[in-house]
Amino acid sequence: MKTIPFSKSELEHIASTFHTPFYIYDETAIRNNVRRLKNAFQWNPGFKEYFAVKSTPTPGILKLFKQEGCGAECASLTELMLAERCGFEGRDIMFTSNVTTVEEYQYASRLGAIINLDDAAHILILEACTGIPETICFRLNFGDQLKYGESVLIDFTNSKFGSAKPQLEAAYPAVRNLGAKHFGIHAQFGCHKRNPEFFGINARKVFAFAVELFEKTGIAIDFVNLAGGIGIPYHAEDEPADIEAISLQIKAAYDETIGKSTLPPVSLYTELGIFMTGPYGYFVSRVLHVKQAYKTFIGLDASTNSFMSPLRYNNYHHITIMGKESAEPVQHYEITGALCEDRDRFATDRLLPKITEGDLLVFHDAGAYGYSHGNNFNGRLRPAELLLQCNGDVSLIRRHETPDDYFSTMIF
Ligand SMILES: Cc1ncc(COP(=O)(O)O)c(C=O)c1O
Repeated sequence: MKTIPFSKSELEHIASTFHTPFYIYDETAIRNNVRRLKNAFQWNPGFKEYFAVKSTPTPGILKLFKQEGCGAECASLTELMLAERCGFEGRDIMFTSNVTTVEEYQYASRLGAIINLDDAAHILILEACTGIPETICFRLNFGDQLKYGESVLIDFTNSKFGSAKPQLEAAYPAVRNLGAKHFGIHAQFGCHKRNPEFFGINARKVFAFAVELFEKTGIAIDFVNLAGGIGIPYHAEDEPADIEAISLQIKAAYDETIGKSTLPPVSLYTELGIFMTGPYGYFVSRVLHVKQAYKTFIGLDASTNSFMSPLRYNNYHHITIMGKESAEPVQHYEITGALCEDRDRFATDRLLPKITEGDLLVFHDAGAYGYSHGNNFNGRLRPAELLLQCNGDVSLIRRHETPDDYFSTMIF
């Protein structure tokens, strides 16, 4: 059973104040989830979550993570600027970029962010533009294959991210010779994974690499950044990721590798995105039209350019029709927007209770990669973002786009 943190009359009131479409995030649920994550990793005193800014790049959300003691993971110049403007600084910023410009390295360096090099060869670029920082991290790509049965889910030799193990075996001594004193390893193994063993198996590989590096070179890794990739349940019947079980698997891997070596204790970092906000954000839109043709088409006051996930990733997003939560599903619907694109569908062939014009539709699990993947196709403007605060008040954390915003970059 998917639940929502507001009643129909509360949501109608919110919609009359801020008008649809909008995203609304549940502050209490986000904060509780951060605390649960930190609690699960208590066994590692240096544990820190660097919230993946790309997933929900909104000050009203980033500030919650800052207040909860998290850092910010940034991947671009503007994400760095955003983190800075939200009060993150120094080692509270992880700069995990790829195809990085000199300007970006300089900005990250000025903020004192931890620079995580995707390409070991960028040591030379970094040395020339900022000098090698005291703390440096490299993104490791084992070049293996993630299999499900016989089929290959991810072929890391085909991934654009990270550097190969032999490249990093040479890179760490090279940066040490250039003055680096603190070292990190970053590795992301996949996305939308919920099976605890998956995280244990992969963490073991990174920890083993840290031990091997220490034994071969004397370089002691200070932190391992296991990045993101913990998935969320989209269907009501799916089990959520068991973060305590994931942490226990990672702990077992740590104890068997680093724990049995002479390597000093290593801090664990994560840069989770969807796990942190995905289930705690909702996309809300109102039904404009019900159109009968070969199928029944519901036309919303939002298009998928504002909420790309169903189209871009083919993700199922549960829909609640406000006031009809316990009504029987009676009809199959195509839930569409107004784009000149037939694929502009939030849901296809979805069995739902009877929908009428004016109904408020709530899409669940829209709290990450929702707003941030939006675009202006067809001149459709981006929606607002709201925060349902812990005290029950609702605040506007990003206003609706206006035609002036749309025209602001055009040269007539
Ligand atoms: C480098 C990096 N870190 C963290 C994340 C966050 O991943 P997720 O939202 O799956 O937790 C991503 C996702 O794109 C990523 O590319």
